[in-house]
Amino acid sequence: MTQTQALRLGVNIDHVATLRNARGGDLPDPVRAAALAAQCGADGITAHLREDRRHIRDGDIERLAREIDLPLNMEMAATEEMRDIALKHRPNACCLVPESREEVTTEGGLNVVGEAAALGEIIAPLKAQNVRISLFIDPEPDQIAASAALGADIVELHTGTYCHAHADEDTQRVQAEIARLQAAAISAAQAGLEVHAGHGLCFETVGAVAAMPEIVELNIGHFLIGASVFSGMPEAIAEMRRCMQAGRSAIGGRS
Ligand code: PXP
Repeated sequence: MTQTQALRLGVNIDHVATLRNARGGDLPDPVRAAALAAQCGADGITAHLREDRRHIRDGDIERLAREIDLPLNMEMAATEEMRDIALKHRPNACCLVPESREEVTTEGGLNVVGEAAALGEIIAPLKAQNVRISLFIDPEPDQIAASAALGADIVELHTGTYCHAHADEDTQRVQAEIARLQAAAISAAQAGLEVHAGHGLCFETVGAVAAMPEIVELNIGHFLIGASVFSGMPEAIAEMRRCMQAGRSAIGGRS
């Protein structure tokens, strides 16, 4: 039996920036939140520089890359503008996501199957600078195969549909989504991809995802920043870790 790998927690600080931008000034500072998350044992920081700059700003990416001593996972659309910004700051990883101005948050995974050529042009120069490439995809076999064929290092599996089913208290859909995520995690790992997951996770939903041994990193933002308002970030991160650990311990023999 192989050893189950540790499960890393990437803290997404976008919504500290959302709060800052509500008043247009400099506070609260998302980079300070990243520093605090680092002190509290986060394994990485995630920030999404959106085309419309609704939360993270260019200066935040620059400061995160310069000031924070943790791997930076820069989420971005696969555009030339974002590619050039990433090449300037060279984050540990770029997580490519689909983006549309109308959406409230990232709504679905990338269409790697349909957009392989365009994605390849964004990916190549980043890989040449040793930036790891993560593709945010729905847990679908064809998207996994296309991601591997494109030379991605990582796939991040979209957990949003699972989390919506949980919020709707639809047990059948929850079970179906967990099975879909688990099958995707297995096939991604078999294809040689590092497997991450995220979107919409909370204390209640994280355990079932943490129980998938192929998944080695979770990226969590909105819920965690919201919980921090009530308990403080150290306690919110500690509680998320406890929930992750509880799920991970349940792996038992299947590792
Ligand atoms: N992973 C990706 C690729 C995302 O786009 C997001 C949302 O920015 C997250 C993880 C985190 O999702 P949430 O903020 O719902 O925890």
